[in-house]
Amino acid sequence: MASPRTASMRAYWEERARLNAAFYVDTSLDYEAPDMERFLETGRVVVGLALDDAPVTPAATGLAVEIGCGLGRICLGLTERFDRVIGYDISSQMLEQAKAIVADRPVELRLTDGASLPGLEDQTADLVVTFTVFQHIPDVDVIRRYIREAGRALAPGGVFAFQWNNTPGSRRWRVRRTVMAGVQRLGRGDRYGRDQPEFLGSRVPLAVIDAALADAGLRRVGLRDPDQLFTWAWAVRS
Ligand SMILES: C[S@@+](CC[C@H](N)C(=O)[O-])C[C@H]1O[C@@H](n2cnc3c(N)ncnc32)[C@H](O)[C@@H]1O
Repeated sequence: MASPRTASMRAYWEERARLNAAFYVDTSLDYEAPDMERFLETGRVVVGLALDDAPVTPAATGLAVEIGCGLGRICLGLTERFDRVIGYDISSQMLEQAKAIVADRPVELRLTDGASLPGLEDQTADLVVTFTVFQHIPDVDVIRRYIREAGRALAPGGVFAFQWNNTPGSRRWRVRRTVMAGVQRLGRGDRYGRDQPEFLGSRVPLAVIDAALADAGLRRVGLRDPDQLFTWAWAVRS
């Protein structure tokens, strides 16, 4: 059952997918004329960030799972390295549009309640990956729940590779988020709606991430670019 928090996330992302899915997946694109070739290529780049020069790599290449797959650009990249890919997203609109992008590849797209990986059997995933999703989740407890899900789903020898916003100042960010959302409601915020809590998400200290990993039966084995918006970490079963 979706919590009120995940319900607002779903409403936000359904609307963004209807407005301009590619732009909201990658806001460095041109809003009016997104370069879809470059967009799809970056999916492969993100897979490289997760798997190349990583402190650990999955023991097998059977199944990769992506949390928050959007239009499926990363799923597409993952199909070059894994037999099967499952992409989960909170937005049915995103998934609908992703179908065309992953059409002839072994990718299954699944709708999630916003905090779990429904239908994914325990200890079956060789890789669980997520990029530019945790950074948009305002409720840290939802991030904890996904980390627990990654721990449940990983096969022995599997790897959880994830990016989140590790910029310092998590409390300050919560205050700023409230102020910016108020400004947005007055019609004076960012014209693309990026001042809303469901876009601004949360900053999460490393200690909180490490505690969540431990709670999920996982152990962090690597960290890249700490204290950044695009901080990456890798974890395996403890
Ligand atoms: C910025 S896009 C990134 C998409 C994809 N990871 C990529 O980089 O191509 C964020 C995606 O996360 C999804 N999302 C947001 N909150 C989510 C949640 N709680 N559970 C699952 N997906 C979520 C959105 O619908 C959107 O498709």
